[in-house]
Amino acid sequence: MTSVWTATAQLPQYDALRADARADVVVIGGGWIGLTTALLLAEDGASVVLVEAGRLATRTSGNTTGKVTSQHSAIYADLLDRHGPTKARLYADANQAAVDQVDELAQRHGIDCELIRTPAFVYSAEDDKTVRREAEVAASLGLPARFVQNPQIGPAAVAAARFDDQVQLHPARYLGGVADALTRAGGRIFENTRAVGVDEKSEGVEVQTEDGPIVRADHAVLTTLLPFGLTGAFFARTRPNQSHGIAVRLPVEAPVGMAISLDSPVRSTRPWPGGGPNGLIVVGGDHEVGSVEDTAAIYQSLIDWVGSTWNFHPEPEYRWSAHDYSTPDLLPYVGRSSGSKATFVATGMRKWGLSNGTVAAGIIRDLVAGRDNPAADLYDAGRIGDVHAVAKLVKDNLKVGKDFTTGHLSRVLHGGVDHLEVGQGGLFTLGGKTVGAYRDPDGKLHTVNPTCTHVGCALAWNNADTTWDCNCHGSRFSPDGEVLDGPATKPLDRHTP
Ligand SMILES: Cc1cc2nc3c(=O)[nH]c(=O)nc-3n(C[C@H](O)[C@H](O)[C@H](O)COP(=O)(O)OP(=O)(O)OC[C@H]3O[C@@H](n4cnc5c(N)ncnc54)[C@H](O)[C@@H]3O)c2cc1C
Ligand code: FES
Repeated sequence: MTSVWTATAQLPQYDALRADARADVVVIGGGWIGLTTALLLAEDGASVVLVEAGRLATRTSGNTTGKVTSQHSAIYADLLDRHGPTKARLYADANQAAVDQVDELAQRHGIDCELIRTPAFVYSAEDDKTVRREAEVAASLGLPARFVQNPQIGPAAVAAARFDDQVQLHPARYLGGVADALTRAGGRIFENTRAVGVDEKSEGVEVQTEDGPIVRADHAVLTTLLPFGLTGAFFARTRPNQSHGIAVRLPVEAPVGMAISLDSPVRSTRPWPGGGPNGLIVVGGDHEVGSVEDTAAIYQSLIDWVGSTWNFHPEPEYRWSAHDYSTPDLLPYVGRSSGSKATFVATGMRKWGLSNGTVAAGIIRDLVAGRDNPAADLYDAGRIGDVHAVAKLVKDNLKVGKDFTTGHLSRVLHGGVDHLEVGQGGLFTLGGKTVGAYRDPDGKLHTVNPTCTHVGCALAWNNADTTWDCNCHGSRFSPDGEVLDGPATKPLDRHTP
């Protein structure tokens, strides 16, 4: 599965790291947050090395909806109730400033990424009270928001909170432009270079990479979606949530503006300029990574929704999926990793990491330079926050690991792998062991030990994306066991029959 963004961008390519390197800051991870952080640091005068395990902008950031907005579904009333007006306003100000900053960066660096300013709606077909309150609270916090009745956004809606002057763009082309700008500012980028450890020394950090070379720096920044390995135990205080996307051409012009439903099932839409005036992107089908047995049915539910909303038989030209992490208090974790002096992290963007990740980049740039940043305390990665919410999430995480390992056995398929048809995968018993098997389109069998190399949870087969997915903390692996997404850093053991 390839997203419409990665399929339609010519991303610059970079060599792998072959020898030890030294920089002021080493950024690990070349998605939206890593690239933006590296650019802001380089523009601030720091020497920067960025290492990326695979190719730039091909994981979650290359699989988004491409909305850069301070409108994060309905969040402001909730933020106000949980955190009070000062913190809610800080969040609003930081994210609205991030929208403008993305526009400014694109313009200053001449990035051709289909960027337009457009409204964003959170709407409901049933409930005008929640969206009314959301619009009122957002407006009271200084955001360009208002309540509208019967908005003409395509799907049926009785009311919406409308945020004006937001941004939609082509995220992969934007990030390709950010990478170019980073190298022009002196930054060095290495692709196909997986970091496997960060050691804090008395002076700075040493980052080990899978193939041997070490990067030494004053500071390390982990922007790997979730910090890898056991770093800061962020895996225990976040949950991984996956969504699916399709790009289709409607029989009529696509509605203007970006929209997301408040009602379930959540559907997030926006125009797809590459698909012409009728092109539409639809994202939805949220579920925890590795928790759904038939992921193909989720794509079908999106297709059915488009078909029934616009009354035709849609044939998506692209389909893709990705995941992101949520935290117990709605706020990302950004800043010094717990107990660390020189290692910074940015995670827990709750699927709003294009604006929140831009905020994160500014916070990390300022912390590295020893400057104040107005949002630093709000996003502080070391905060305890709501003790009860954190305790519940840690407990849920432990339960997921236990339940899933037990439930795993019930997913073992009967019959031998010889009966596995082309394109099918799943769990089998071979020689008394549980084995993960997949038969590729050429008929070749791929077999792995389906035990996650992070902390040992059982993996689930994802039939639509043909990946092995971990419900515990979101690692994903290819049919051959290569790591696609951390926190795991080691491949799965191959099974040799
Ligand atoms: C379906 C979907 C739609 C979304 N839509 C929106 C939207 O419209 N607007 C919005 O604001 N947000 C959206 N989000 C959220 C947003 O996409 C994410 O918050 C954001 O992309 C996260 O960026 P990142 O750089 O942390 O992660 P990534 O893009 O995943 O980047 C992390 C990078 O680190 C690399 N890496 C991992 N481990 C290592 C290692 N050990 N060594 C080196 N490199 C490593 C990975 O290969 C990857 O390239 C969406 C999320 C999803 C799932
Ligand atoms: S991601 Fe933690 S055990 Fe798999």
